[in-house]
Amino acid sequence: MSVISSAPIGIFDSGIGGLTVAQAVKRALPDEQIVYFGDTAHLPYGDKSTAAIQAYCIKITQLLLKRSCKLILIACNSASAAGFDLVKEYVGKKAKVLNVIDPVVDYLRELYPGKKVGLIGTKQTVNSKVYEQKVRSLGQGINLHSLATPLLVPMIEEGFVDGEISEKIVEKYLNDPWLENLEAIILGCTHYPLIKQLIQNYYGPDIEVIDSSEIVAKALKAFLGFHNLFNRNSTNVDHFMVSDYTDSFEESTRMFFGETINLELTPLWD
Ligand code: DGL
Repeated sequence: MSVISSAPIGIFDSGIGGLTVAQAVKRALPDEQIVYFGDTAHLPYGDKSTAAIQAYCIKITQLLLKRSCKLILIACNSASAAGFDLVKEYVGKKAKVLNVIDPVVDYLRELYPGKKVGLIGTKQTVNSKVYEQKVRSLGQGINLHSLATPLLVPMIEEGFVDGEISEKIVEKYLNDPWLENLEAIILGCTHYPLIKQLIQNYYGPDIEVIDSSEIVAKALKAFLGFHNLFNRNSTNVDHFMVSDYTDSFEESTRMFFGETINLELTPLWD
């Protein structure tokens, strides 16, 4: 079965985090139609077991395939860590599958060989050691120090993206001696771009805070170009689905994509 270039790009996350990636994709590829799925019924993924996240990933993938997506982008580090290989195998030749981890690892290979780099993410992402394995396999002597920072997702979901409380929580995590003397720090969770400024303020301008959303969007553009899959005649509107409808998700989606979005409640299990 061949993949059709005018078909949409499916993007999924546990909730609002993937919207940071979807927005970067839309900026880089304005002619592409996006079908977004936020699995708000099962948020947060970061504290779930690998088996549970894999089950959600497969259900969402089925849904995105039903919408004829040409490519599925797993816009969640926890889901990329737990479910990428499985989703890729499940999808086979029906669509392309990308994750948010590989483009960042490629970025490190280019810019940080032999350097000490930090990573913050959910428990799932950090405990999976997927970043470490991929970075080690580069053989570039990159010294990756990862730390789980589980309070950051609920903090962001509750709208604490600046101010004293958020600063204190961020400081508490980043003060960990394990993260001393870094050359750069990876935001290993798609929620964290929303507090990038807080993190940059903590480190100052000399340490790069690596926001994967831009890097992933660039990689996706290159990938579509390479596979001759650019949508040349897009007239379709983007489509947003959630597994549990909340006003705050609708608000966040409008914040990222404007007032005219079309948000649909789509439970994963009937
Ligand atoms: N967006 C998810 C990630 O990138 C984190 C949110 C969650 O725990 O569900 O890991």
